[in-house]
Amino acid sequence: MGEIVLAAKITHVPSIWLSIQPGKHYGIRRPAEEALKEVGRRARERGADTFLVADSHWLNSIGFHLNGRERHHGSYTSHELPHFIHDLEYDYQGDAELAELVREEIVAGGQKARVHTYKDLGLEYATLVPMYFMNGDSSIRVLPIGCNMYSTIDENRRIGEALLRAVRRSDRKVAFLASGSLSHAFPPNAIAETMLDDVSSEINRTVDLAVLEMWKEGRFGEFLAMLPDYNARCAGEGAMADTAMLFGLLGWDGYTGKGELLCPYFGSTGTGQVVVDFPVPAFAE
Ligand SMILES: [Fe+2]
Repeated sequence: MGEIVLAAKITHVPSIWLSIQPGKHYGIRRPAEEALKEVGRRARERGADTFLVADSHWLNSIGFHLNGRERHHGSYTSHELPHFIHDLEYDYQGDAELAELVREEIVAGGQKARVHTYKDLGLEYATLVPMYFMNGDSSIRVLPIGCNMYSTIDENRRIGEALLRAVRRSDRKVAFLASGSLSHAFPPNAIAETMLDDVSSEINRTVDLAVLEMWKEGRFGEFLAMLPDYNARCAGEGAMADTAMLFGLLGWDGYTGKGELLCPYFGSTGTGQVVVDFPVPAFAE
């Protein structure tokens, strides 16, 4: 029986990519770089076969979608921020088999899902940036699931439950990555570049930090009760689908672990970012 060996909420901001390029931004995100590498190290140490990534930059508008290509291979330039991320070469093995199991379990749960293998369906940067740091030798398979930008927290809770059922039906050891922001309000254009290391508002920063305290202290019932409001009021990235999938997979408000921060909270062009590892419960038979 397959198992989840790691579950983490991770950052993927382009400034991490800038941080490893020569120039004035070199080194600005070193703690985040190290945290992503640490997640990769832990995944490898626990024998992960596949990174299952809830990618909040693969934004879907109808239903739920998996990139089930056997091999992800190409060169990526961001349409959103081409000056930040361009010419990123990648080559990872995919996981068509697990993609199909996930599709089956999502459908069994009464929701709509599709697996795609189109040759032009490339990876997005919420997968590519973390993979660069975590999977440098390309030894772990990569399976992205998109985030439906019009989905509800409850829908994504059920997707997370389906992901767990699918993994347990497989023979895979899976590291699940919720690749998305905390608060996600971008600043106005006139000041955006001055806020490279900042959060858009003190309200967002305060709420993000309160959320991190809840995660560290294991107050998940409290957090999940406010998650729909948090998403609405703090401009959740991709409907905070990644976060809801993560907790759906972990057992929702029955989860008894405590989050481990792997890097300090930081602002990046107005958004709130972090890397947190959530110990995986020993799921009952
Ligand atoms: Fe993002």
